[in-house]
Amino acid sequence: MTVSDAVASRRSVRAFLPTPVDEAVLRRVLETALRTPSGGNLQPWRLRVVSGEALERLKAAVVQRAIERPEGESADYPIYPSPLASPWRDRRYRAGEDLYAALKIPREDKPARRSQFLNNYRAFGAPVVIFFHIQRSHGAPQWSDVGMLMQTLMLLLREAGLDTCPQEAWAPYAATVDAHLGADSEEMLFAGLAVGFRDPDAAVNRFHVARAPIDEIVSFHD
Ligand SMILES: Cc1cc2nc3c(=O)[nH]c(=O)nc-3n(C[C@H](O)[C@H](O)[C@H](O)COP(=O)(O)O)c2cc1C
Repeated sequence: MTVSDAVASRRSVRAFLPTPVDEAVLRRVLETALRTPSGGNLQPWRLRVVSGEALERLKAAVVQRAIERPEGESADYPIYPSPLASPWRDRRYRAGEDLYAALKIPREDKPARRSQFLNNYRAFGAPVVIFFHIQRSHGAPQWSDVGMLMQTLMLLLREAGLDTCPQEAWAPYAATVDAHLGADSEEMLFAGLAVGFRDPDAAVNRFHVARAPIDEIVSFHD
């Protein structure tokens, strides 16, 4: 698989098969991904790989909390700016509409949308979730380093035949996640990464999220 193949075949998978992931494969992929560059080589990331009983307990606890407190337990960082202006707002709206259209959930069916959203806290059935923490004292450059690590990992996992879904949705329930994983108060949960094998038959895995055309994003200066 070329890097281009990995980029083209990566998508956010929201229905996984229960097939377990070989821990030796994960370890090898993680070791390679840790070659990701970071400013000053700070390597400002901390990863926790959760599976098996530990993941079952964590999912049960977070689903429970998400039902009790749909607004979240805390907001350590704002997932989106508020207000979110155009064109970013329109892109977000469109991605959501495409997702729910694939699932045939109409806009006005709020309970069905909420129930689909809650699947985040079941990691969409993935057998593994990798949680990404960053130091609270770290700033925007370090956050961007963590993003690079996440993308490198997603592409290497494609090469290993695996699929992923990055999930900021865990962040509002960081208190529960951190209590289960023993993260200390200096650390901040950025996101989880669901890892497993995609269910090729699931409608939710078959829609395509469009991108803005290159000329809307890139300008060439010479
Ligand atoms: C950092 C990050 C966090 C994300 N969080 C979530 C999430 O919590 N739940 C979800 O279903 N998708 C999440 N996504 C997936 C995005 O919606 C998705 O990447 C985007 O719509 C483009 O679609 P694609 O990944 O299928 O190409 C996240 C993506 C990134 C990069």
